[in-house]
Amino acid sequence: MDLQEFSQKFAQIKAQGWVPSQRRGPTGIGHTFEHLLGLTENNIALPDLGKIEIKAHRIGATSLITLFTFNRNAWRISPLLAVKKYGTPDSRGRLGLYFALAKIGFPGFLSRSRNYSMRENIQLSFLEQQDDWTFQGASTRELTHCYHDYPARMIPQVAGKLLDLFGQQARLLFDPYCGSGTSLVEANLRGIDAIGTDLNPLAQLIAKAKTATPALDQVEAYVRLFQQQILEEKLHYLRESQRIYGIPRLEFWFKPEVVEKLLAVRRFIETIAEEGTRLFFQVAFSETVRESSNTRNDEFKLYRYDEAELERFNPDVYGIMASKLSRNLEGYRKYRALLTRLPRLPRTSVYDFNTVEGIPADVLPPQSVDIVITSPPYGDSGTTVAYGQYSRLSAAWLGLPDPHKIDRKLMGGQVRKGIPLFPSPELNSAIELVKTADEKRAYEVASFYTDLYASIVNVATVIRPNGLACYVVGNRKVRGVTLPTHLVACQFCTCTLYLWRRVLSLEVSKWTSVILFG
Ligand SMILES: C[S@@+](CC[C@H](N)C(=O)[O-])C[C@H]1O[C@@H](n2cnc3c(N)ncnc32)[C@H](O)[C@@H]1O
Repeated sequence: MDLQEFSQKFAQIKAQGWVPSQRRGPTGIGHTFEHLLGLTENNIALPDLGKIEIKAHRIGATSLITLFTFNRNAWRISPLLAVKKYGTPDSRGRLGLYFALAKIGFPGFLSRSRNYSMRENIQLSFLEQQDDWTFQGASTRELTHCYHDYPARMIPQVAGKLLDLFGQQARLLFDPYCGSGTSLVEANLRGIDAIGTDLNPLAQLIAKAKTATPALDQVEAYVRLFQQQILEEKLHYLRESQRIYGIPRLEFWFKPEVVEKLLAVRRFIETIAEEGTRLFFQVAFSETVRESSNTRNDEFKLYRYDEAELERFNPDVYGIMASKLSRNLEGYRKYRALLTRLPRLPRTSVYDFNTVEGIPADVLPPQSVDIVITSPPYGDSGTTVAYGQYSRLSAAWLGLPDPHKIDRKLMGGQVRKGIPLFPSPELNSAIELVKTADEKRAYEVASFYTDLYASIVNVATVIRPNGLACYVVGNRKVRGVTLPTHLVACQFCTCTLYLWRRVLSLEVSKWTSVILFG
């Protein structure tokens, strides 16, 4: 029976509704299900459907599902030898050959077992064929994920699912391109401490805000105070502070009345002493700056409204800020409620080091990270997602360092003349093709991958033995040539294989792949 036949039969069986179990006891439902499918019980070592083993589980049952145990009929070597040869270590380093999984709803498994290797391969072949990683229709703005938009944000559910599958034992997650902190939040929700780094100061600020845990009553009190001051028209600003470093033509990007109100909101925020609460207000302010500026809101790049549009544009700065605060407060309340179920509040730190150059050992010593979940940039910011342009106005208003110089610092931002030979034949040919059309673009592409390679090599050194890195990558086109980053990342990881036991690639949607190395 192939997978398609299985799907059809499964749908037919499901349509039957309740059916009586044909055997008593714990194996009853599995037996009944296989019988309805037309499979005869064989108890052989091979999976039921090609690479897939069918497992049935009672709804609500809390017991683990045994994937396989050592069976003398199937294994032709002694148990001790088998364990020595194929066993995988548990958290205390003991080898074992017993694999059990807990169910999280069809079709998918939440691993309870100890190590990756064989279990991981089985899960991946299962996921590859059946599982949906696009999370279409799912809300990506729940909890503190609602705080702030960010270009090329990771889908939180992808990070969450990777953690549920592979992060069961993890205590520390690292995201080397943490952006707005999606995977840091997902780690914290599972009680896992997190470290992130990003060269964009606005990204650092958002990531810090999303993982901060200020006292809820204090945040609520400040939100009330702000609303009250709007009503009572008490917000004001200092006239002498009308220059914003990093925005030379302030009046080009903001109407004069908008500038005055933004200054007043900023002044209010400056009075908040506690850092977590201030961050909470700063992210709302950042989005308010963007929304009340003369830039088109549906673009990440800076495009000014045309004259006719500007005439009609009359943003209510205080109203925008107040509604961001209420939305974010709602998200924070839910986030806090989930965190209180954990035995302790997880810790997160966000840094600004560049993994292309190295990783500070006092922050992350070698082999200290259990799991990396990250989405690196698709290419240099100059020609792909312009993180710097997106962040410039907010960053300047927030007084963040050098808002106009960000893009040059990011991966691929420093273009070197020359094209090295990469450990990826597909990348080498793609760059050759780009070069025939546009030599300069070929240098840009090569610079980006040079940086990506250096970063992967450095990240590899901080992952512990049996740890895992999950890179969520997408391919892009340059001069009509597709750059196969999903392959390239795999090949780069393979080059660092002296540190790894395996590299796996999982295409999770038309645009996205997850590269796992561990
Ligand atoms: C695809 S985004 C990450 C988005 C993030 N996963 C999220 O959900 O918001 C890539 C990030 O990499 C950052 N970046 C680019 N080059 C970097 C470098 N060399 N070191 C650290 N971060 C870098 C960019 O600033 C950007 O925030």
